[in-house]
Amino acid sequence: MPLHLLQHPLASHLVTHLRDKTTKPAQFRTLAFRLSQLLAIEATRDLATAVRHIETPLEPTDGLVLAHSIVVVPILRAGLGMVEPFLELFPDVSVGYIGLERDHQTARAHSYYCKLPPLEARRVFVVDPMLATGGSAVQALSAVKANGAVDPRLICIVAAPEGVAEVERVHPNATIHAAALDRCLDSRKYILPGLGDFGDRLYGT
Ligand code: PRP
Ligand code: URA
Repeated sequence: MPLHLLQHPLASHLVTHLRDKTTKPAQFRTLAFRLSQLLAIEATRDLATAVRHIETPLEPTDGLVLAHSIVVVPILRAGLGMVEPFLELFPDVSVGYIGLERDHQTARAHSYYCKLPPLEARRVFVVDPMLATGGSAVQALSAVKANGAVDPRLICIVAAPEGVAEVERVHPNATIHAAALDRCLDSRKYILPGLGDFGDRLYGT
């Protein structure tokens, strides 16, 4: 099963307030930040560590430190709302950017920007809050793999079953971390019950 759902009462609380149509952009950004923090911690549970010999004020000891640097790749523009928690939590993070936008008529994503740091030998996390048809996520995962990422993870806030199935079809080994798995897509390919257009709500557009 490629989908890992965040199981925490605080995550459910934050998702409910994100969904609420009366939540204003400033509060929406705070909620997105906090959920992304929880998701970032969950999705990095199995990061490799290395032994580091140190001395405490009392005696020498061995401890563990993170063995690899991390690359977080937001899908513009909504994914930007999920980057800051990675930068705050992890000591060694690079950021790559993939610009994809869904056509409002066809719901197909087209690429308008891609700037990625070196991805070899790094843990790569593609972040995008909404996994709807899966078109954007599939393209982004293909792009990071083509640039050297091995086993990239996808982190989203709300996933639709259709999007999960599409990612699994094209990238069968990809792991997806999400805070909520919703019911389905509507005729315009919006997630139900969802939270509307994440980018618009994040940036007040
Ligand atoms: C949204 C969202 C995802 C995409 C998901 O972006 O942030 O990137 O839709 O849909 P999909 O799974 O059907 O591809 P949007 O195209 O609205 O662009 P924006 O982030 O610039 O608002
Ligand atoms: N993108 C969004 O922002 N919301 C959806 O429901 C689907 C795609």
